[in-house]
Amino acid sequence: MPRRRAAAERQNLMLAEFDKPDGHVTAPPVPRTEFPAQGQAEDQVLGEVRRRLDLNRYALEKNFAITYSGIPSAISRKVDAMTAGSFFVEWAGESETGTISMEREAVGMMASLLGNPAAGGFITTGGTESNLASMRLARNSGQQAEPEIIIPVTMHFSFRLGAELMKIKLVEIDVDSDTYLPRMEDVEKAITPRTVGLVCSAPGGTFGIMDNVAAFAELAWRKGLYLHVDAAFGGFILPFMRDLGYAVPPFDLSLKGVSSIMTDGHKLGLLPISTGFFLANDPGLFETIPTESTLIHTTSSTKPGSRAAGAWATFRNLGREGYRQSTAHVLKLRDLIVDGVTAIPGMTLAVPRFITVVGFTSKTINLEDVHQHMAEDGWGQGYGILRGKPFIRLSIHPSRDEAHARGFVKAFEAAVRHARRV
Ligand SMILES: Cc1ncc(COP(=O)(O)O)c(C=O)c1O
Repeated sequence: MPRRRAAAERQNLMLAEFDKPDGHVTAPPVPRTEFPAQGQAEDQVLGEVRRRLDLNRYALEKNFAITYSGIPSAISRKVDAMTAGSFFVEWAGESETGTISMEREAVGMMASLLGNPAAGGFITTGGTESNLASMRLARNSGQQAEPEIIIPVTMHFSFRLGAELMKIKLVEIDVDSDTYLPRMEDVEKAITPRTVGLVCSAPGGTFGIMDNVAAFAELAWRKGLYLHVDAAFGGFILPFMRDLGYAVPPFDLSLKGVSSIMTDGHKLGLLPISTGFFLANDPGLFETIPTESTLIHTTSSTKPGSRAAGAWATFRNLGREGYRQSTAHVLKLRDLIVDGVTAIPGMTLAVPRFITVVGFTSKTINLEDVHQHMAEDGWGQGYGILRGKPFIRLSIHPSRDEAHARGFVKAFEAAVRHARRV
């Protein structure tokens, strides 16, 4: 496998993460760039910023490859403009009293949304940091000399990062090649005296598949183990899907046996990028962190006040009702796209639809051609091969509208016609 990869290949590497490609990724080179001796006029600089942003390959509305919400809520954008210079970090309570009160209350609102208003937690920079926090708590509370954490192989790469940083052995459980779910017997069999924790997704980022969180929780409770739920996408959609009458299995802190959960505001939460939530069912778990030397309980330090104020303001402004509407809207877009694409002969869903992350596959259509043709036409979507099956993956966000969804289907139909011709 070549050491250097084009950007597109890198993305596929990420999508195919649980097939564990063995390629090495080189760090992107830094161009030789002089530090400017003199300042340049604002107009000129801003013009150049505009030009650089225009180089981004896809217009946001046509990009269904990204995991992030794209355009965050209107009120969080207004808050961004109000909060220049404000910040939050645990030790700044005396000076940043107001900002920190919004961070604490935003965490409290998420704790009550996700099953335990008495949970402890923090706003983080996102899913990767939150997952690292869970591994740290599992390791510190488990007190094993050679700690092991068991995860389905489908989990986000951040757990591999945490294992490397914290010298934890990751025991990866393989999944069924059709359902992409692990067998609970295999998870149980992997438990050893060194096991400090289990991890599962609600749902996973590749195709939006829910692990059986209740079964993981029962096992963790029975064995006295820490269980972390990665609800990066789920935390900001599953409660509202339940309100709308969708069948949503139990997944949150209300389950006896779930030690912690995380969710990302910058995915389906309508919050700006770099807003995550990490919640521990028992706030006492944070006592296992040696704050005498670290001063803080998180692995990021000072964060922009806009992230705390933006979350607080968006929750207050939209309320549960607003998020329910945004959920109904985005699920309608998902259905428009899924119904449109699967109406094309030869196109099927890789797994049944559940949330807004969907995967398509085909035995007869060259999906790589489809992907390339759509990319040339300005549409972003993920392409990869998982367990030998080619797939196209989409992550659909509430900031898109019906015209974008219909446009995507039309472009997909045209790309399939093109792929059949070549
Ligand atoms: C399921 C899941 N967990 C964690 C993460 C990491 O999130 P972040 O990019 O905010 O660090 C992602 C990102 O896509 C994800 O899909």
